[in-house]
Amino acid sequence: MTARPIIIDCDPGQDDAVALFLAMASPADFEILGITAVAGNVPLELTQRNARIICELAGRTDVPVFAGCDKPMRYELITAENVHGKTGIDGVAVYVPGMPLQTQHAVDFIIETLLAADDGSITLVPTGPLTNIGQAISREPRILPKIREIVLMGGAMREAGNTTPSAEFNILEDPDAAQIVMHCGRPLTIVPLDVTHQVLVSRQRLEQIRAIGTTVGDAIVGMMEFFNRFDSIKYGSDGAPLHDPCTIAYLLEPGLFEGKMCNVEIETGSPLTRGHTAVDFWGVTGRAHNANWLYSVDADGFFALLIDRLKA
Ligand code: RIB
Ligand code: CA
Repeated sequence: MTARPIIIDCDPGQDDAVALFLAMASPADFEILGITAVAGNVPLELTQRNARIICELAGRTDVPVFAGCDKPMRYELITAENVHGKTGIDGVAVYVPGMPLQTQHAVDFIIETLLAADDGSITLVPTGPLTNIGQAISREPRILPKIREIVLMGGAMREAGNTTPSAEFNILEDPDAAQIVMHCGRPLTIVPLDVTHQVLVSRQRLEQIRAIGTTVGDAIVGMMEFFNRFDSIKYGSDGAPLHDPCTIAYLLEPGLFEGKMCNVEIETGSPLTRGHTAVDFWGVTGRAHNANWLYSVDADGFFALLIDRLKA
């Protein structure tokens, strides 16, 4: 089996970090062409730094890291230090990474890499606001045939919004970019809160990760102990939802998830409901199906996969 070429676009973020660790722990499955950072959980200068720290912790400084957009396409940047801490990856020591930041802008890297690739060959895995992806598509639509599929974390249907009553953070941050992605015409799988709220980092699961006893395992435990505090109180749950790694897990073991082809549209203007994912789950509009909307996951199977890969 040849490794799938992927680009991970992210805003680390403790859960982005676990997604990156899972991907980097699976070199037979993924050829990570690059990690592109976007402003989101914390400003861009922190997300790009955090991505490099994560690569160094994983011993994967071979993976190039690029800085992308520092604000959404239209609206002002919303950050989430209340969830992720001032560093964006509170729970692990931050420092000035030794590995360099690539000088090329992330959007230029995405465009250049895709234009040079074969049709249908590159998988995009966005786990933050979709600004870099939306900008790349709008600037250079010729990249579209090169995309094998997009698997993104964002949105909510049966779950309420986590940032406004109507909207999940990634989509709220840049609804214009999200709408561009919804209508890109390429195979699209969406991993919403409806799924990620089923994968909670409970105390038992945290101890299983701690038992791995590696640098990466210890870093994840530290970050999850911080990440758990906010959501456990907010949701009254035993642990926080592990959002972003679900994208990588889906690519590794899609059978862990259930989804349905639907029409998904984004509210881009309303001050009240901006960022809402309008999911036509029952096909009442007759609008074209543009996304595989995931709605359930085998949570124990997800954590077994995660821990198995981290041990390897
Ligand atoms: O709403 C959850 C998403 O927003 C996750 O990707 C988290 O990292 C934040 O970016
Ligand atoms: Ca994220």
